Amino acid sequence: MEIALITHDPDLKEQRNRKLVNALAERGVSVRVLAPGRETVCISGSGTAFIDGSGRELNPDLVVNGLYRNSGWGLDLVRAFELAGYPVVNRAEAWYRAKMKHLASAALAAAGVPQPPVVFSHGVPAPLWRRARRLGRRVVLKPWNSALGEGSARYPQAQITRERLGRWRRRHGSVYAQAYVPNPGRDIRVVVVGSEALGASYRYARKGMWKTNVAAGGRPAYCRLTEPLRRLALAATRAVGLDVAGVDIIEGAERLQVLELNAWPNYHGYDQIARVDVAGYLADYLIERARRGTG
Ligand SMILES: Nc1ncnc2c1ncn2[C@@H]1O[C@H](COP(=O)(O)OP(=O)(O)O)[C@@H](O)[C@H]1O
Ligand SMILES: [Mg+2]
Repeated sequence: MEIALITHDPDLKEQRNRKLVNALAERGVSVRVLAPGRETVCISGSGTAFIDGSGRELNPDLVVNGLYRNSGWGLDLVRAFELAGYPVVNRAEAWYRAKMKHLASAALAAAGVPQPPVVFSHGVPAPLWRRARRLGRRVVLKPWNSALGEGSARYPQAQITRERLGRWRRRHGSVYAQAYVPNPGRDIRVVVVGSEALGASYRYARKGMWKTNVAAGGRPAYCRLTEPLRRLALAATRAVGLDVAGVDIIEGAERLQVLELNAWPNYHGYDQIARVDVAGYLADYLIERARRGTG
């Protein structure tokens, strides 16, 4: 069996990618690594051929979309594999939806998955800033495609002015504003693979900070995967159309709410905290999907 991994990390420097390739190799799968910039796509007649950096043609049983950069560079390559009839995990459309925060929000809303209210615009028309102010006592502004807690900022309602939103729009190209959810100083990351939620971890914000991302200094800790967490994470993943996801969940005063979804979550470290062999589960799942083909 052959599985192609499309990645921004062709030299497998990242632990999550190395762990997955090792887990697949242990199960007898040959993994072909393909990176945007190293591929050659040949289209002729009714066929499309994909050739890797070493000049070998790929004919994988499954394509794994392991892209993670915010830019989405190379996502068209994933789409090209889909058009050529290969089964893909995660599909390009779902990846794009997860990455563009307002699309993820719209998908969650359509599926009735609880989340904080959001307003979004490519500009700063009056209805945007009037409504953004009304989101709540505090409002979080996020770059439309942020990750790792980078770039987002929290403001008291009174500081959500037209001028501030105008500056934000000039800097980020659009405005995504979300109601801030008062919480116990932590959020929860649930990793989903296929139809299973594998485990959960708390992420505690550093003292005086409000973002809990581990990259922003958040401290991870074991969290029991309760039934409500499991159900919410699976519903969110399904709503966005992902097969593999890291779902960020916050404990609001009244209920759990989904903050965002990550299409290729970094599970290195998480696996120990959540006490689950994510790479192993992922490898088994990918093998099953490869066996199933496009059906
Ligand atoms: N609406 C919100 N209310 C409370 N905390 C939030 C909210 N949005 C984000 N956060 C905090 O900021 C972190 C980063 O936000 P998130 O939406 O996950 O974006 P990303 O991780 O892509 O930067 C979250 O893990 C959470 O700790
Ligand atoms: Mg996050």
